[in-house]
Amino acid sequence: MTTHFDVLIIGAGAAGLYAAIFAGRRGRRVLVVDHADKAGKKILISGGGRCNFTNLHADPKRFISKNPHFAISALKRHSQHDFIALVDRHGIPWHEKKLGQLFCDRSAQDIVAMLLDECADAGVALRLECKVQAVGRGEPGGFTLSTSHGTFTGDSLVLATGGLSIPKMGATGFALDVARQFGLPIVEPRPALVPFTFRPDDLARTKDLSGIALDGTVRCDGVGFREALLITHRGLSGPSVLQISSYWREGMPVTVDLSPDQPLADTLKALKRSRPRAELKTVLAELLPRRFAERLFEAPVLGEAPLVSRPLADMRDADLATVAARLHGWTVQPEGTEGYRTAEVMLGGIDTAALSSKTMETKAVPGLYAVGEAVDVTGWLGGYNFQWAWSSGYAAGMAA
Ligand code: FDA
Repeated sequence: MTTHFDVLIIGAGAAGLYAAIFAGRRGRRVLVVDHADKAGKKILISGGGRCNFTNLHADPKRFISKNPHFAISALKRHSQHDFIALVDRHGIPWHEKKLGQLFCDRSAQDIVAMLLDECADAGVALRLECKVQAVGRGEPGGFTLSTSHGTFTGDSLVLATGGLSIPKMGATGFALDVARQFGLPIVEPRPALVPFTFRPDDLARTKDLSGIALDGTVRCDGVGFREALLITHRGLSGPSVLQISSYWREGMPVTVDLSPDQPLADTLKALKRSRPRAELKTVLAELLPRRFAERLFEAPVLGEAPLVSRPLADMRDADLATVAARLHGWTVQPEGTEGYRTAEVMLGGIDTAALSSKTMETKAVPGLYAVGEAVDVTGWLGGYNFQWAWSSGYAAGMAA
């Protein structure tokens, strides 16, 4: 038996549920299908279980896309403030952690419950553990979904199956496959917001320092992020590293300024005057995590050769400036990333050139929409990716 809906949505994640709410509120008969046993699984694990659901500074400049202007319209039409208003209407307590990042006080479950309540209010039908076997065009128009729950037809079809990150959780390239089926262009996907891995020789010098957090500005390809970085047993992680991974490409060096707030040459020269007998190693261990500072004298962690420790009084100002320059520009050459296994998001996706920025409808296939992470719009770390899911979901939900 075939059941007809006005709007079919594949993917009961952030963007799919949000699109469903607004299409349902417009009186459209909506069906959301998902192969998972629960809706919003990524929301539940996000933000360490507290869901960093948006960011107060969700400005289009904090999103990466082949077309940097594409996200402007959707982010403006349904902004972080609109989402916060919905969260407030549901009485969900939240707080700003840092840098405009808003988290639930209690649990990410609050956000999923809110989305499901809104879907129920809007009369949205939800089918979980529903495998989509084929997507086709209907007769005379519209779309057909052949699924493990039967065949459904719809006037509109919204692709909301997210990206490739964390395949263990059921992430698939389904939206990309359907996009290819309909001849839509794709921006090569790659893992982003992901830790770096080191080559074995580099790793040999840093592995036992894993767990050490450093403060610094991490730069690559003309972009820099100032937040913590973390040495891991595979390479580097931490918020600034995850952020820069979205801009990194194979073979590019990454530099880390380990003293982003103060010119280290000035500090070392001042210490030379106030504590001339102090050893370089001693003062660096006061300025940096001790074990990391000690390693700089044992192995070539910063550049070619290990540093040599001498009393500051025995070092020329030029020598101190050289040490400072190395610490301001620690250059690391990642071998790669941890890949989709741990990446928070997928960069790339359905090329925005194929979509209306106002409605997320594909230009070539009327009635076909794409939203959320499946689209080539990727936010920074810090609640931006959920905001894109809400904004793009709203845009499609108001049009489909
Ligand atoms: P999402 O992945 O949410 O939903 C896709 C849905 O489609 C899923 O329910 C899936 O089961 C379903 N699906 C996939 N393939 C299918 C198929 N073939 N058939 C049927 N259904 C299918 N972002 C942020 O802003 N703040 C944060 O705190 C975090 N934290 C975070 C932690 C971790 C560990 C990860 C992996 C990611 C984050 N993110 C994040 C990113 C954020 O989770 C992500 O960008 C959004 O969930 C994207 O929303 P979508 O709805 O596009 O995809």
